[in-house]
Amino acid sequence: MTSRWNNPTGGFGYHLRAFSRRRTRWAPFVRATTRFLHGWAPRERTLLLVGPSGGHCLDLSFLRRFERLVAVDFDPFAPMVFRWRARHLLADGRVSLTWDSRDHLSPGAKGFDRAPVRALLDAHPDAAVLFCNLLGQLPLLGDAPAPEQSDDDPPEGSYEHWLVGLAEALHGRTWASFHDRLSGNVRPRAIDEGALVAWSPSTELVAKHYPLTDDPNLSLIDHRTSALCPELPRAQWVWEIAEGTWHLIEGISVRGDREPA
Ligand SMILES: C[S@@+](CC[C@H](N)C(=O)[O-])C[C@H]1O[C@@H](n2cnc3c(N)ncnc32)[C@H](O)[C@@H]1O
Repeated sequence: MTSRWNNPTGGFGYHLRAFSRRRTRWAPFVRATTRFLHGWAPRERTLLLVGPSGGHCLDLSFLRRFERLVAVDFDPFAPMVFRWRARHLLADGRVSLTWDSRDHLSPGAKGFDRAPVRALLDAHPDAAVLFCNLLGQLPLLGDAPAPEQSDDDPPEGSYEHWLVGLAEALHGRTWASFHDRLSGNVRPRAIDEGALVAWSPSTELVAKHYPLTDDPNLSLIDHRTSALCPELPRAQWVWEIAEGTWHLIEGISVRGDREPA
């Protein structure tokens, strides 16, 4: 079981970094995320935020369009920081916030299990769902893929299998995710942040957006989010998370066909 107090995807250190960088180094990333969220424009009145942390990168004016926010994040510091950041939004009572600190997402003894996330989605049938820069972090909580793993038919328990099931569970719903595709000590280039692009496998993303080099000091991490909805167009933008470390972020947004309740 993942430790809530010391999880590699967030925690106290993340809040400190976010407070000092949100308006400086992270500002272009926060602006691009805001543009993406406003472009999504869900009509639902409830938003299920999965992995919002303290809401550091989320635009509060976007959140204002909802009557009810349900946040799912097991970081014990996150609810306090989020409530403080969103204090003006929550003060007049027009937007309510409930917090679910349970872990619906970490892998268990048999790897990533689709049932808990399905149950979470089923518990909020009328909510639009936003995965807040989380899906590229979850693989850090599980095992690396087996070298022989097939992309087309990933085995049960693998993260890729879980992602395919997540897309199925979201079918017909309004949902969005922004998440890491690749990261490392090389700045991605030629990213058109205003355009929607077709899915590419990671090898093509590397060829298109990173310089050809044999410098052994340069390296990239694949965040294993490529299995999420390859049929859908996506936005791309860059997050310079720390000096000399850049994430290539992808954003997918879908508006469901149901009339909001
Ligand atoms: C990279 S942070 C997200 C950043 C955030 N959206 C922001 O605006 O700053 C990932 C978040 O996911 C949460 N998280 C990771 N695994 C989780 C799990 N299994 N259940 C609930 N929350 C989880 C972490 O606690 C962390 O706050």
